[in-house]
Amino acid sequence: MAAEIEIIQGDITQLSVAAIVNAANNRLLGGGGVDGAIHRAAGPELLAECRTLHGCPTGEAKITAGYRLSAKKVIHTVGPVWHGGTQGEPQLLANCYRNSLRLAADIGLTSIAFPSISTGVYGYPIEKACRIAIHETLQFLKQKNSLEKIIFCCFSDEDAECYRQTLAELTSK
Ligand code: APR
Repeated sequence: MAAEIEIIQGDITQLSVAAIVNAANNRLLGGGGVDGAIHRAAGPELLAECRTLHGCPTGEAKITAGYRLSAKKVIHTVGPVWHGGTQGEPQLLANCYRNSLRLAADIGLTSIAFPSISTGVYGYPIEKACRIAIHETLQFLKQKNSLEKIIFCCFSDEDAECYRQTLAELTSK
């Protein structure tokens, strides 16, 4: 069955999916933005488990339980800080999506929700970031895997619109 890609505007901590993805930092010890929201909703056990992971390099992903979240798992990935696009940011951001999807598929999850990684504090331009997010997801879905639903959960309507336009463009070719 072909996986469904869904684009919504909302708070990722409220989603009842198998895994939500956290836009974390290299320390994996919480922060602001979606990282802060996920830790607040999951409760202190999330931080306790994160401490056992000893950080995460940019572009890579690590998985924990979801604790008080409706999501069963949290996949923590660290996006690149935007420095103009000439320091490997596109490839690192692509790695975030690919590695998160692979982690979810490796344990047979059927659904995953992404925030718009790196487009907040890390300053990645939304148009460029969402194109990478959708392209990498479409590429990943060409391989057989357990994922049946991929949700892009945008915090703002503008971001959701950007994802919708980009998805339409990349799937119309
Ligand atoms: N649900 C969904 N999306 C959210 C939520 C939420 N509850 N809260 C924020 N966002 C959105 C932001 O509006 C932005 O579009 O997540 C996107 C990513 O923004 P950030 O959370 O700032 O993440 P990022 O740009 O990757 O920066 C990561 O910020 O919070 C710190 O600890 C984090 O140091 C790390 C850095």
